[in-house]
Amino acid sequence: MLFSGLAPMGDDPILMVSKMFRACENPNKVDLGVGVYKDAEGNTAILNSVKKAEKYLVENQATKTYLSPAGNPEFNQLVQDMMIGDDHVAVKENRVSTFQTPGGTGGVRIGLEFVKTCNPNANIWISDPTWPNHTAITKSLGLTPKPYRYYDIKGGEFLYEGMLEDLSGAKEGDVVILHGCCHNASGADLSKEQWNELADLMKEKGLIPFVDFAYQGFGNGIDEDSYAARLMAEKLPEALIASSCSKNFAMYRDRAGAITLVSSSEELHSTNASHLLGAVRANYSMPPDHGAAVAAHILGTPDLKAEWINEVDEMRNRVKKMRTLFVELMNKKAPNSGFGYIAEQNGMFSYLTLSAEQIQTLINDHYIFFMANGRVNMAGLTEDNIEYVTDAIASLFIS
Ligand SMILES: Cc1ncc(COP(=O)(O)O)c(C=O)c1O
Repeated sequence: MLFSGLAPMGDDPILMVSKMFRACENPNKVDLGVGVYKDAEGNTAILNSVKKAEKYLVENQATKTYLSPAGNPEFNQLVQDMMIGDDHVAVKENRVSTFQTPGGTGGVRIGLEFVKTCNPNANIWISDPTWPNHTAITKSLGLTPKPYRYYDIKGGEFLYEGMLEDLSGAKEGDVVILHGCCHNASGADLSKEQWNELADLMKEKGLIPFVDFAYQGFGNGIDEDSYAARLMAEKLPEALIASSCSKNFAMYRDRAGAITLVSSSEELHSTNASHLLGAVRANYSMPPDHGAAVAAHILGTPDLKAEWINEVDEMRNRVKKMRTLFVELMNKKAPNSGFGYIAEQNGMFSYLTLSAEQIQTLINDHYIFFMANGRVNMAGLTEDNIEYVTDAIASLFIS
């Protein structure tokens, strides 16, 4: 029998947290697990700009005929402009292409397939810790993942020197997955100076940056957050960038994202792009239309774009506000608890520097659900639940 020799894969830890949250009947329960933005009422609402674009599409879209493996050309152009700009040196030299993919995950997958086509022996350097799918996709393609030090979860410390040291040991042609902003799961990002130094090191060593850019707008702003993507595509001759519209358009289930390929020359670029699109064709033929059509309409319509930027600003500012308030309350309730770093970090995620036992106490006794390794989604905090959450955490420090 073919289908009889498999061992169970085990539950996805993120989905497990959601399941436990749903099953919990305590009215005080708080979900700081799943990685989606939540508003002040705790809802993951559809953005107004998205609703308006959807209405426009329902009324005006004239066909549902096939697109192409590259997806929606307008979306591809607008996303590329937003990420690296039309004045970027690699764009001017005609050696950049952006192709729509099913979410940022699709972008990571297609990008790594392309790497494998170019060199199946390339190592894929992945930050420790990271979004677990980086390792899963790398392994599923038969490529070799290599961890580089990035963040000390228990100490709450960004390990920049360790990162440089580990990447100094990479071999020429190896690929380095970098979080473009809002590192998932630590919230710790490189400064501009550190990005510059890293780019120099990677150039010297002949390493290829693969920027995973899933949170544009959630760090410091749409333009500000693209610093690393622009820099890597400028300082290094070759690069890949996977981007996502899941978070910044709140279109998680519509699966809109992109893979951007930067080649070293215009001559090589069309051949490279043809292989990347070959990977698309052999996987899912072409990406789904809806989410990308919505994003393209928003980005291409000045009024709607302005409204969308306001909505992104609002999401970012709300998370920042919760970070600041969390630190203020913890400083008041448990002055030595040491959570000051939370206010400095970016995006939705941070680790709580707590022991495994303390984490279990929060989950089992206080019904606050988050990852067993301490990763919390700060967007799950609201004005309504933050006193409850900080009281519960503070109780762990009172002996
Ligand atoms: C670092 C990182 N990359 C990629 C993705 C994929 O996003 P998408 O839902 O668009 O596939 C995520 C989503 O959580 C992420 O955190």
